[in-house]
Amino acid sequence: MSTGLTTIGERRLGSTMRRDAWWLELLPAIILLGGFGLYATGRAFEGKYYEWGPYLSPFYSPLIDPHHRWWPFSPALLILVWPLGFRATCYYYRKAYYRAFFLDPPACAVGEPGARNYRGETAFPFILQNLHRFFLCFLWRDAYRAFIFEGRFGVGVGTLVLLLNVSLLTTYALSCHSLRHLVGGRLDCFSCASFGGPQHTAWSWLSVLNNRHMLFAWISLVMVGLADFYIRLVASGAITDLRLM
Ligand code: FES
Repeated sequence: MSTGLTTIGERRLGSTMRRDAWWLELLPAIILLGGFGLYATGRAFEGKYYEWGPYLSPFYSPLIDPHHRWWPFSPALLILVWPLGFRATCYYYRKAYYRAFFLDPPACAVGEPGARNYRGETAFPFILQNLHRFFLCFLWRDAYRAFIFEGRFGVGVGTLVLLLNVSLLTTYALSCHSLRHLVGGRLDCFSCASFGGPQHTAWSWLSVLNNRHMLFAWISLVMVGLADFYIRLVASGAITDLRLM
């Protein structure tokens, strides 16, 4: 019997009847996710140029033991699991990196490696992937602090950079599939549920964001890298932060 994946029982890596350049879909994920991974790892190990005035790089937030009283390495290594966990457990990124880096499968109707023993996120270790909905905090506090220059209110370019970063990250989190499910996606009948009206309203708004989850995932990823890069430039003295107020 013919399927989009050659014939049943004939599943080799890359085997397919697709005639389009399906592998092109993998390139953005490889370039962006791979590039971001390399940059973030390099910055995490660098251990310097992560704060200036009221600004703190998102890669180092929350800042733990910056004076190396008990942790001799870069403080970013203590918290790296949080931003990484936030991204790595997102349903969209999981699709992107399962395809781009594990070829599992490389694309729709394209052969994947080995036996099909994937059972979803129902058992360890993949069940940990479901933790992704709990991974957002700290960065709003940093954005708030970026308005306080030596005890006085102020606004610099760095303030706006950090505010934009956390706003995009929040939009990305609000567009999450899990959140949409929790708020209303799990219901079969809104009018039968208590508080069904407000739940339906919230679910409708989140659905609008959810439609663009992939877009927010990429934009917020690029922005967090840019925010760190800006603070690195300012902290290293390469550029001067422009004070707006
Ligand atoms: S599905 Fe992407 S953050 Fe939840």
